Amino acid sequence: LEDTMILAIETSCDETAAAVVKNGREVLSNVVASQIDSHKRFGGVVPEVASRHHVEQITLIIEEALAEADITLDDVDAFAVTEGPGLVGALLIGVHAAKGLSLATGKPLIGVHHIAGHIYANHLVDELTFPLISLVVSGGHTELIYMKEHGVYEMLGETRDDAVGEAYDKVARTLGLPYPGGPAIDKLAASGEPAIDLPRSWLEEGSFDFSFSGLKSSVLNTLHNAKQRGTELETADLAASFQASAVEVLVEKTAAAAEAFDVPRVVLAGGVAANSGLRDALTRRMEKDGRKLTIPPLHLCTDNAAMIGAAAMVQYNRGDFAGDDLNGRPGLSL
Ligand code: KG4
Ligand code: ZN
Repeated sequence: LEDTMILAIETSCDETAAAVVKNGREVLSNVVASQIDSHKRFGGVVPEVASRHHVEQITLIIEEALAEADITLDDVDAFAVTEGPGLVGALLIGVHAAKGLSLATGKPLIGVHHIAGHIYANHLVDELTFPLISLVVSGGHTELIYMKEHGVYEMLGETRDDAVGEAYDKVARTLGLPYPGGPAIDKLAASGEPAIDLPRSWLEEGSFDFSFSGLKSSVLNTLHNAKQRGTELETADLAASFQASAVEVLVEKTAAAAEAFDVPRVVLAGGVAANSGLRDALTRRMEKDGRKLTIPPLHLCTDNAAMIGAAAMVQYNRGDFAGDDLNGRPGLSL
């Protein structure tokens, strides 16, 4: 059987990324140019700034990905790119680059859903087996997804307000921590005790939906009240308490969904999968429940192009190719 070489591109938010993935599972290169330093002084991602950086970086990053994989464009079988969801201006840079390469070489183009990419980061670690449930946690998504086979996604629940990563970033800003807030809170939480009583948002009995805005507000209120009363408040304890609440709900709902759908396997996906508290708690819970759990290494949890190449291989095998009308679709659903 011939090897299939996919050059994948990801520019949905603030990382300019390109990777070469062989046969959907073997990462030959995975180059990520982060823009974090440029967005830090604004306290979050500025869409216009992100687009400009992508324009400046994209050609270099693609060349670097090819060079690191020690291949040329001739060796590439298909070009894959994140088509959505994400920032429209940012998405367009990657989409146009991939379209240009496809047009110039006559090789097929594959449009990939960003969340499919996050889930398939797990396929790079340990071949996916079905059925499975994926907990997707990122800056824009908090979802429980059931997969009965490759490339088929059934949404069991999603956030009704803030995504969990968004809640992390907002709480971090209130605590005066630098952007991105997730890693900063994670680190601070490790030196505190979850001693402050914060709500758990379970929603209706049996619901697999999430809600994090109430938790976020109660962190802000706790901080505000302490300030007004002039009482000392250990921010590390507040960070630890916030993390404890978020993690408990994520883990319990994932365990309940795995039970309800009787799946032998759970995979964790998205930037918040880098969270040490979530990794530990979900690992312990799945061990206890006797389900196999896969969690990607940190560099495959946050945005990267190798995960896009992994998800693209499934579409390649099905002949699910994009036409020259491929566009950036900010609200694309899975
Ligand atoms: O998947 P991702 O890189 O980009 C999106 O598709 O959104 O996720 C970014 C999110 C941010 O909200 C960031 O704060 C969060 O992931 N994040 C973390 C950690 N590392 C990144 N949240 C909690 N703990 C972490 N260690
Ligand atoms: Zn992402």
